[in-house]
This record gives sequence, C-alpha cells and structure tokens, in this order.
Amino acid sequence: MKVLVSGSKGMLGTDLMRVLGSSPTAVVGFDLDELDITDRRAVEDRVLAEAPDVLINAAAYTDVDRSEEQEDLAFQVNAEGAANLALACRAARARLVHVSTDYVFDGSDPRPYSEQDRASPLGVYGRSKWEGEERIREILPEACLVRTAWLYGKAGKNFVKAILAQADQKSRLRVVDDQRGSPTYTFDLAMALREAAGQGLEGTYHVTNQGSCSWLEFAVKILELSEKTGVEVDPISSEELGRPAPRPTNSVLSCGKFEEATGMKLRTWQDALADYLSE
Ligand SMILES: NC(=O)c1ccc[n+]([C@@H]2O[C@H](COP(=O)([O-])OP(=O)(O)OC[C@H]3O[C@@H](n4cnc5c(N)ncnc54)[C@H](OP(=O)(O)O)[C@@H]3O)[C@@H](O)[C@H]2O)c1
Repeated sequence: MKVLVSGSKGMLGTDLMRVLGSSPTAVVGFDLDELDITDRRAVEDRVLAEAPDVLINAAAYTDVDRSEEQEDLAFQVNAEGAANLALACRAARARLVHVSTDYVFDGSDPRPYSEQDRASPLGVYGRSKWEGEERIREILPEACLVRTAWLYGKAGKNFVKAILAQADQKSRLRVVDDQRGSPTYTFDLAMALREAAGQGLEGTYHVTNQGSCSWLEFAVKILELSEKTGVEVDPISSEELGRPAPRPTNSVLSCGKFEEATGMKLRTWQDALADYLSE
C-alpha cells in the first residue's frame, strides 16, 4: 500500500509520517511549503504523479480563534482544499481518509455525539470543516471521514505544552472547567488512521482516546503525571476566558462505530497522556 499524507509537517501529520514510516507501507508526505491544497490543478497533478492507494488528509487551517476574522482563508483551506483533494483522489482512483473535528457539533447535548447526530457548528472553523466534509461526501461518497477532538502531540503547539510552560512560570493557573472532551494523542490517532486506510473504511467515524474530562481535569492530570507539585489550578468559565470563537460545551464523541468496524479501541486518555509525557 502506498499512502500520500497532506499536512505532513503538522502536529498530526508528523505522527502519521512516523507511524506509517515504521510499517511496510510506502509513505510520501507534503505540506504547505511544497504544495497548497487550495491550488486545484497542482493538487491533481501531484496526486496523479504519486498514484497513491490512499491519501490521508491532515492539512487544515486549524487556528480556531483566528478563523473568526479569516473566514475566507478558513473556507478556502478547509472546504475548497478538502474538495480539491477529493477531486484529485477521484481522478487518480485513490481512496481518501480525511480528518475532521468535534467542532462540527454545537455541544449542547450532554451525551457523547454519534456519527448520526446533526452537525450545527458554532464558529467559522467548525463551519468550514463541516463544509469540507459535505464537499467530500458529494465528490467521493466512498471517502472515509474521521472526526476527532482535543489533539496533542510532539509537534506543534498544544494544551499539554501550554500547561507545562505556564507551570514553569506561575504557581496558580486558571483553566476552563465548563467544556468536556476527550484528549487524544496524535500518535494514537495516527495508528487509527493507518487502520482506517488499510481496512478501506468508508463513511464517517469518530475516533478519540477513551474517556473524557474538562480542560481543568486535563490540566490537573498533566501536572500530576509530570510531577509538577505546588501548582494550583483554579476553575474559570469559557465566558471569563473570553476567546473570540465559541466552543462546544460537550465535545465528547462516541467511538463505537469505529471500534466495531476495525476491532481497534484506543487506550484511555490518561494512559496515552502518561505515555506522551514519559517519552
Ligand atoms: N488540533 C486539534 O485539537 C484538533 C481537534 C480536532 C480535529 N482536528 C483536525 O485534525 C487535523 C490535524 O490537525 P493538527 O492539529 O495536526 O493541525 P496543524 O498542526 O495545524 O497541521 C495542519 C498542517 O496543514 C498545513 N496547511 C495549512 N494550510 C495548508 C494548505 N493550504 N495547503 C497545505 N497544507 C496546509 C499546515 O501548515 P502551516 O503550519 O504552515 O500552516 C500544517 O502543517 C485537522 O484536520 C484538524 O482540523 C484537530
């Protein structure tokens, strides 16, 4: 199997290259410095030239807050770019595994969200990702769309690194406690995406590490596992934090469909975090 990874230098893309590179799979990656997915012709030329069996798309415009003022760019990359990849895959007869987000939901339902639940994104980023999903389904109905949430990994900025950096400077942190989700290690997600690609999954799936917590509970666990003692964490509300983009209160995704289809269940978020912090 030959896999082409778009967004290969991003947080998830880096782990995808690591995971796919350590298996018999032939893997080639590209990122924005080499090819812009909003350039339809260039994308098609590259995918036809590489002739992969599967393209895994980890490229996206992921700055949730900046998307509010960069709406055109967010839609160009997350909707138009996703559509370009689907068109190229159709032309090259390649399968497509595309990564999407919990932010397609508004989070008002307290239960874990299933693949059948109605999308109702709150902000520009979520709307642009939802439009990307819809464009892909239209162009390539057999594509595999994997929604995930609360990613952290070795590459790029993320919540774990932010908490550790703050704990080095302050003895009291303020962390949001009114949003729930499932922290997910990009390495674990990359293994799930390899499985989805290898098994030829079609349709929409939810994939996160098991279990859920608030951002505050996540922060407390990060500090505990990294033995940062003497740092207090105070709860604040999303409103108090005052970020430009609204976020879902409940971001928990139910992952049973993926587990049944593949026989693969990701480890708990606590085990994945412990592993990440020990590396
Ligand atoms: N991070 C999360 O918590 C989270 C949660 C749920 C879902 N997701 C989804 O998971 C996927 C991976 O996210 P991530 O956190 O790994 O994102 P990331 O670190 O921002 O990586 C995205 C990569 O895509 C590249 N890119 C941006 N615009 C591009 C373009 N026009 N053409 C080609 N490449 C482009 C970026 O390059 P530059 O860095 O140079 O811009 C970056 O290398 C995305 O689909 C995201 O929506 C993320």
